[in-house]
Amino acid sequence: MRTTTKAFLTLLAAHLTLAQTQPAPSPTDATDFAETTFDFVVVGGGTSGLVLASRLSENPNITVGVLEAGDYRPGDDLILIPASTGPAVLGANSQDQSNLQGNPNYDWKFKSVPQTGLNGGTILYPRGKVVGGSSAINTMIWQRASSVEYDLWESAFQNPGWSWSSLLPYFAKVENWSPPPIVLPGQEADPSLAAVHGKTGYVNVSYNNFMTDVEVPIVKSANALGIRTNSNPDAGNGTGFYYMARNVNPVTGFRSYASPAYFEPFVGRPNLKLVSEALVTKINFANSTVEGKGLVATGVDFTVGNQTFTVKANKEVILAAGSLKTPQLLELSGVGNATLLKSLGIEPLLDSPQIGENLQDHPVTYSDFQTKDGVVTLDQLTFNETFVAEAKANFSHTPAHGALSYTDAIIGPNTFQAVVNASQFNSVLALLDKELKGRKYPTELQQLQFTAARELFAEGKIAWIEVVNVPEGGVVSVPTANTSYVTTVVIQLHPFARGSVHINSTDPTAAPVINPNFLASEFDTQVLTHGLQFVRKMLNNSGIVAEYHAPDNTVQTDAQWESYVRGHVGSTAHPLGTTAMAPQHIGGVVDSHLKIYGLSNVRVVDAGIFPFTLSAAIMSSVYAVAEKAADIVKADWKI
Ligand SMILES: Cc1cc2nc3c(=O)[nH]c(=O)nc-3n(C[C@H](O)[C@H](O)[C@H](O)COP(=O)(O)OP(=O)(O)OC[C@H]3O[C@@H](n4cnc5c(N)ncnc54)[C@H](O)[C@@H]3O)c2cc1C
Ligand SMILES: *[C@@H]1O[C@H](CO)[C@@H](O)[C@H](O)[C@H]1NC(C)=O
Ligand SMILES: *[C@@H]1O[C@H](CO)[C@@H](O)[C@H](O)[C@H]1NC(C)=O
Ligand SMILES: *[C@@H]1O[C@H](CO)[C@@H](O)[C@H](O)[C@H]1NC(C)=O
Ligand SMILES: *[C@@H]1O[C@H](CO)[C@@H](O)[C@H](O)[C@H]1NC(C)=O
Ligand SMILES: *[C@@H]1O[C@H](CO)[C@@H](O)[C@H](O)[C@H]1NC(C)=O
Ligand SMILES: *[C@@H]1O[C@H](CO)[C@@H](O)[C@H](O)[C@H]1NC(C)=O
Ligand SMILES: *[C@@H]1O[C@H](CO)[C@@H](O)[C@H](O)[C@H]1NC(C)=O
Ligand SMILES: *[C@@H]1O[C@H](CO)[C@@H](O)[C@H](O)[C@H]1NC(C)=O
Ligand SMILES: *[C@@H]1O[C@H](CO)[C@@H](O)[C@H](O)[C@H]1NC(C)=O
Ligand SMILES: *[C@@H]1O[C@H](CO)[C@@H](O)[C@H](O)[C@H]1NC(C)=O
Ligand SMILES: *[C@@H]1O[C@H](CO)[C@@H](O)[C@H](O)[C@H]1NC(C)=O
Ligand SMILES: *[C@@H]1O[C@H](CO)[C@@H](O)[C@H](O)[C@H]1NC(C)=O
Repeated sequence: MRTTTKAFLTLLAAHLTLAQTQPAPSPTDATDFAETTFDFVVVGGGTSGLVLASRLSENPNITVGVLEAGDYRPGDDLILIPASTGPAVLGANSQDQSNLQGNPNYDWKFKSVPQTGLNGGTILYPRGKVVGGSSAINTMIWQRASSVEYDLWESAFQNPGWSWSSLLPYFAKVENWSPPPIVLPGQEADPSLAAVHGKTGYVNVSYNNFMTDVEVPIVKSANALGIRTNSNPDAGNGTGFYYMARNVNPVTGFRSYASPAYFEPFVGRPNLKLVSEALVTKINFANSTVEGKGLVATGVDFTVGNQTFTVKANKEVILAAGSLKTPQLLELSGVGNATLLKSLGIEPLLDSPQIGENLQDHPVTYSDFQTKDGVVTLDQLTFNETFVAEAKANFSHTPAHGALSYTDAIIGPNTFQAVVNASQFNSVLALLDKELKGRKYPTELQQLQFTAARELFAEGKIAWIEVVNVPEGGVVSVPTANTSYVTTVVIQLHPFARGSVHINSTDPTAAPVINPNFLASEFDTQVLTHGLQFVRKMLNNSGIVAEYHAPDNTVQTDAQWESYVRGHVGSTAHPLGTTAMAPQHIGGVVDSHLKIYGLSNVRVVDAGIFPFTLSAAIMSSVYAVAEKAADIVKADWKI
């Protein structure tokens, strides 16, 4: 949808030799790989898979093989330079190949089935297809949810060892954190912020060192409307407006993602091998010789080009293909809903009907505003050569700074109570209770989720509506030349919709059928609508807005707002829950050691295991979960 990006990147390319580099050769030859019997075969060299690969191969006696469907692209400017990612928050809509998101060389480019709640519209689902996975193409928001949500994993959803306090050391283990260089209105120097971050991890975490003219007025406006600036959102209370961390190297200004963090430094390990452009098509199973042990995975089949290979795993097959691809691979291998598998002619080896169910994702809706004359935003990069030259000089400087290193800098995850008045709150709560009363629960897990979510909502314990500011136009509407905008989007952090992802074909190269069921719940719709109404009030009070652009001033009544919202929803690309961690009898797919019930040696370590969504972007949690998973695997095998 963004039309200006191309022109901007042409300008950029002229100055920065920004180009899509040719992929590097696969680090390991496929034939050589297939001739090795590994202790662990990891499916998917993405965010979680590379954490497992590097941590397990720390022990030189343990061999680890990784298969990744995408290319290996170390040192690729398109990945590394933050400004080339694409329209922040929802690059999903971009079809521009000079962007990262939406580019088939980096992105699987999935899309949902038509959504009833969106008048039949479909949602684009970008997913990383490159060594580094989605961490290579995402928006670099580095955020944690509130402690009470992780605690539910252990208490309500009955997973021993999975609480906020047990994850906190792993959040820190991932990070090489640097403190914020700029102070926002209302922000206090808070030593507890440094105390909950790590300094010795592999992912560089820092903060923007450049602000446009819109961030400070927006935070001041939020403060005036009763929303505090949160000086430490990472210690268990994530509500309020804050200065957002990002996974960017503060020295070079480059994206710090899973490949340079967890793979490239370890390429020389003789016990770690990775084949890129290798699509895993099937997990191979044998019956265990030990009674009651279930099926044993012996290895996997994979294709490179037109050639098919088989590789053996001695100890385990570890699935890290992501929440939308891990269920597909299991189903193709005969593990899943037996009725569905039979209907496609696949012999079911294990009936595990919750695989691919329980899909949860954060819907986002958008608005933008034209700014007053003289308000500097990133739109300057599209029409002001002097600004571009300055930005380029800033980025080439050490440390890198300025407009080209910008990623979304302020974020406001707010309780619903903070953005509506008491009568609006009561009527939305009444609507929720009405919907819940008629609800039939397919699993006890879902019933427990909904009970917990209703309480968190009603008591205002966690953020429900997240406001993200993007200091440029072109995300939701077509910008006018030489004009500046601020795009302000609203994300619903705990939707009540549940969706699914399943195969519809025995072809392993076919896309899975993805259905997030966005806005199937009227409650979800009302929450987003109230969020956008609040955003208009907040921007109107900020002093920087010349005109409501999308939606324009003609949208005023609740009915008009609702209709606008149903036509303007996307995904923040945080799908999870499709192989949920919980006891099997309540609807779980993996146990608290992340092993799939009924299989003796297959684990899932990607975002699919999150039982319940979070009031934050999920990447830092994916890394933390993977670090914890690596320790669990090591302990289980005493390695
Ligand atoms: C466009 C976009 C923007 C996002 N923005 C943010 C953000 O700003 N902040 C944030 O916190 N989160 C963000 N996220 C979410 C976050 O990036 C993901 O949740 C996280 O990276 C998922 O990690 P994963 O290990 O589960 O899967 P992935 O990192 O996606 O890894 C899965 C890997 O498996 C590979 N694979 C899949 N199937 C096969 C197969 N059959 N054979 C071989 N390989 C296979 C894939 O190619 C991929 O490399 C965003 C995601 C996207 C896509
Ligand atoms: C690796 O194996 C050798 C020989 O068995 C043993 O001495 C050594 O302690 C092992 N190393 C690790 C890290 O387990
Ligand atoms: C993190 O920063 C250090 C120091 O600049 C650098 O050497 C390293 O490559 C960076 N790592 C990643 C993953 O960006
Ligand atoms: C396991 O044994 C059963 C019963 O003998 C058989 O039907 C099935 O095909 C076997 N499964 C595998 C993967 O060998
Ligand atoms: C795969 O096979 C087809 C048909 O045999 C051929 O045209 C194509 O070039 C092959 N591709 C590769 C990557 O070998
Ligand atoms: C299993 O698949 C069948 C056929 O698609 C479907 O009717 C049934 O609801 C599914 N079961 C679950 C638990 O989703
Ligand atoms: C263009 O950018 C330069 C450098 O930042 C700035 O001084 C100038 O005012 C900008 N021009 C316009 C028209 O905004
Ligand atoms: C360049 O950096 C200077 C100094 O930090 C800053 O004042 C200026 O706004 C930056 N301009 C751009 C376009 O990045
Ligand atoms: C709450 O806000 C709505 C919408 O702005 C307004 O119509 C209503 O009068 C307000 N109610 C109270 C009690 O302030
Ligand atoms: C989070 O912090 C805000 C502001 O200090 C406070 O009002 C709120 O009660 C806190 N939430 C929780 C759950 O502690
Ligand atoms: C935008 O501004 C530039 C520089 O001031 C000017 O040359 C160009 O004609 C303007 N474009 C439009 C469409 O107004
Ligand atoms: C599933 O496959 C069938 C047969 O190819 C097709 O008719 C149907 O449209 C597909 N459904 C989806 C949701 O892709
Ligand atoms: C916008 O602000 C003006 C002046 O402060 C006020 O009259 C108007 O009601 C506000 N509009 C909205 C939608 O808040």
